[in-house]
Amino acid sequence: MCGITATVGADDAVSRLLTGLENLEYRGYDSAGVAVANGSGVEVVKREGQVEELVDLLSSTSIDGSVGLGHTRWSTHGPPTNANAHPHTDCRGELAVVHNGIIENHAELRERLRAAGHTFTSDTDTEVVPHLVEEYLATGAGIETAFRRAVADLSGSYAIALIHEDEDAVYATRQGSPLVFGLADDTPGSSSDETYYLASDVPAFLEFTDSVVYLEDGDVVRVAPDGYDITDREGAPVERPVETVEWSSDDVEKGAFDHYMRKEIDEQPTAIAQAVRGRAADGRVAFESLPDGAFADVERVQFVACGTSYHAALYGAQLLRERGISARVFLASEYAITAPPADDGTLLVGVTQSGETADTLAALRRGRSEGLRTMAVTNVVGSTAARECDDVVFIRAGPEIGVAATKTFSSQVVTLALLAERILRDVAGSHSETAPELLDALSDLPSAVSATLTDSSAEAIADRYGDSDAYFFIGRGTAHPVALEGALKLKEISYEHAEGFPAGELKHGPLALVTANTPVFAVATGAHTEKLLGSIEEVSARGAPVIAVAPRSERAVAEAADDVLWVPDSHPELVGLLANVQLQLLSYHTATLLDRPVDKPRNLAKSVTVE
Ligand code: AGP
Repeated sequence: MCGITATVGADDAVSRLLTGLENLEYRGYDSAGVAVANGSGVEVVKREGQVEELVDLLSSTSIDGSVGLGHTRWSTHGPPTNANAHPHTDCRGELAVVHNGIIENHAELRERLRAAGHTFTSDTDTEVVPHLVEEYLATGAGIETAFRRAVADLSGSYAIALIHEDEDAVYATRQGSPLVFGLADDTPGSSSDETYYLASDVPAFLEFTDSVVYLEDGDVVRVAPDGYDITDREGAPVERPVETVEWSSDDVEKGAFDHYMRKEIDEQPTAIAQAVRGRAADGRVAFESLPDGAFADVERVQFVACGTSYHAALYGAQLLRERGISARVFLASEYAITAPPADDGTLLVGVTQSGETADTLAALRRGRSEGLRTMAVTNVVGSTAARECDDVVFIRAGPEIGVAATKTFSSQVVTLALLAERILRDVAGSHSETAPELLDALSDLPSAVSATLTDSSAEAIADRYGDSDAYFFIGRGTAHPVALEGALKLKEISYEHAEGFPAGELKHGPLALVTANTPVFAVATGAHTEKLLGSIEEVSARGAPVIAVAPRSERAVAEAADDVLWVPDSHPELVGLLANVQLQLLSYHTATLLDRPVDKPRNLAKSVTVE
């Protein structure tokens, strides 16, 4: 995890770095720091805590410069302390480094450097990097050569940026961790023609520019006020196109909302409309860059994903199976170590909002190494999953900043529903008989989500059941992943104990947990709601309050429940998304009633780039 940023060319480097760090804070928020090179040395200011605490510190410790680095940390090696915060420096404080990723051989490098007389001041894996550069500089190498030689010693994953007091420049490289390069030619307050940015993700500099270069693994970039060059590991120049990002800076602002999560819940009608736009014309599903027949050889689909994306994949797999296509879902972290035997005809689909989740990338790489065709379903153009897979479909949700995934779940499921129809057409020669109703319902879905948002009693329900011992979520069919997602959302942002179960499994163990103080949310949007009624009876008989999450047509379920979170009637394969919106609101209100930091839940980060 962690977010890194760098800037070159603007006189107010520190304020631009802080803007970048605020926009990258979803990647980690337990300590933060900046460093600038300003002609009189390298100055570093860093501290434990969130970026706003660094901002406070910098208001009384001003540092100036036009070349700088920034970092916001999610701890892996060493606790969140001032000493472990980045940037890290060499023994003499002549250079500073920020890093995202994991240096796997840090222990052996540290031993080698200690033996050579270097003194370490942190527990981090990162600190070996500035000392390695220092070591190579001492042999007489120039800064660029020393940087390259240091990087060549590393194994693991990294995006690294470095400044040195002797040069007005940033050196950066990546291997397995994201790094994007932004170019702005009309930046107010800049004394050079262009201002440049490097960051773990585009939102860091979207306020300043939408012109981006997606760097590749092994690229080394040197950025100075008068220009930049990109080379490969051996130093040969490489060409990377400058692309224009479709996201706008408004997309990464909270606007009038208290939290990004609430804003992103509200953005779902637009996100869904974007996911469908242009992909369901004249009753046929079409994806850009996937020609007719692209899936003709697919015999089965395997999904790999984590967390919320795993739940979206469970939902999508059911839609495929309902169309007669074999589909299984694997937790990416497990698939990476115990993949099933590889068969011809298997399409391996990684569902990942960020496109950077290390477990999912490892699973996709494992499948690829065994000869499987891979496809990414992702939100982020230029992400590692998008670049490494044979095919890619974008979910087009726009940037999601809140750590809790909300709109991207909806966009993933909608995209997978379209994909299920598209695969079926290539495999069987035509869409399913029910495709016209599904495609109509998809175009109506944004207004159904709007109606759900406007008409929700989730806040009152959160208030009524806010003092419970635990919360359970049950559902069958496509309501099962919705139940799992409802529980994940509640636990991650409210810290309340919550579990989701397939309703039929209750009686095989979880029922022992049910008491009069454990509300059970019964998601009545999957098939077989008559069987869900049986589960409701079982928990009611143990005194548990039951809250149905149900469309108006499910009268029997609603009558059996103590409370209802109503959703509009919709297509049976999509109505689960409306139930999910209600559960997002329930989690949000529960967390705000408990005064939790909704967008930055403890111990978590949005983009999990370590296995
Ligand atoms: C959910 O709210 C979390 N943010 C988390 O479970 C997330 O879905 C998971 O880490 C996978 O992320 P990805 O979609 O970026 O791969």
